[in-house]
Amino acid sequence: MAFLEIENLNSGYGDVNVLSDISLSIEKGEIIALVGSNGAGKSTLLKTISGLLTPTSGKIIFNGKDITGISPDKIIRDKIIHIPEGRKLFSDMSIEENLLMGAYSRKDKSIMKDLDNTYLLFPILEERRKQKAGSLSGGEQQMLALGKGLMGDPDLLLIDEMSLGLAPVIVDDLISIIKDLNASGKTIFIVEQDVRLALENSNFAYILDTGSITLKGKSEELIKNPDIKKAYLGM
Ligand SMILES: Nc1ncnc2c1ncn2[C@@H]1O[C@H](COP(=O)(O)OP(=O)(O)OP(=O)(O)O)[C@@H](O)[C@H]1O
Ligand SMILES: [Mg+2]
Repeated sequence: MAFLEIENLNSGYGDVNVLSDISLSIEKGEIIALVGSNGAGKSTLLKTISGLLTPTSGKIIFNGKDITGISPDKIIRDKIIHIPEGRKLFSDMSIEENLLMGAYSRKDKSIMKDLDNTYLLFPILEERRKQKAGSLSGGEQQMLALGKGLMGDPDLLLIDEMSLGLAPVIVDDLISIIKDLNASGKTIFIVEQDVRLALENSNFAYILDTGSITLKGKSEELIKNPDIKKAYLGM
């Protein structure tokens, strides 16, 4: 069984079903991408995996454990961390307070060590650690959102629209950090409207179209697929 296994998942908001019969699997140690247009249901899938939404049917198995329908705080303790679209930081709190909030559910003794590691990864966050999160630039806020996620000591990181609204040089920096984190053992699920970016930087990808997976495959093959080129890569 894969690290994360989703079987025939249906989920949405109240009476509105958004995801229809989603099945997908994520192997440990990979970077997996989920791509698709505006409103396809990408964020809805991440919210369902992290427990913010309860599926109406189907199963989510993580690390051999059925986590379907369990609460977000328990899912965090199972080491799935969701970095939401729009970053969702505490803008009136300092950078350091935000990072420590990322560790609130932990009881182990490595929190301060992980704070040091996060600062090593993002030196700018250490330089500005007393500054309010709301005063940071978009790129810095995304770094903080990533750092806050890492403070939860994830095994599986779900990252929603990391690149949105950021300059290409900043996106490059973030991608190289994602790759380093992956090399150090973290499994990463990236959700992106930027299909090219996602396919160029993942091992395997799923295409989501109006709530259904319409295509899946190795990213290096999908990027050459004529239908994908036409529909998503503007070629
Ligand atoms: N809180 C909500 N209540 C009701 N419907 C919602 C809610 N959030 C999203 N939806 C609807 O669910 C569908 C999927 O939305 P979702 O945010 O998952 O798409 P997405 O693929 O993440 O889009 P984007 O690329 O714009 O982030 C859309 O039709 C959207 O209008
Ligand atoms: Mg979204």
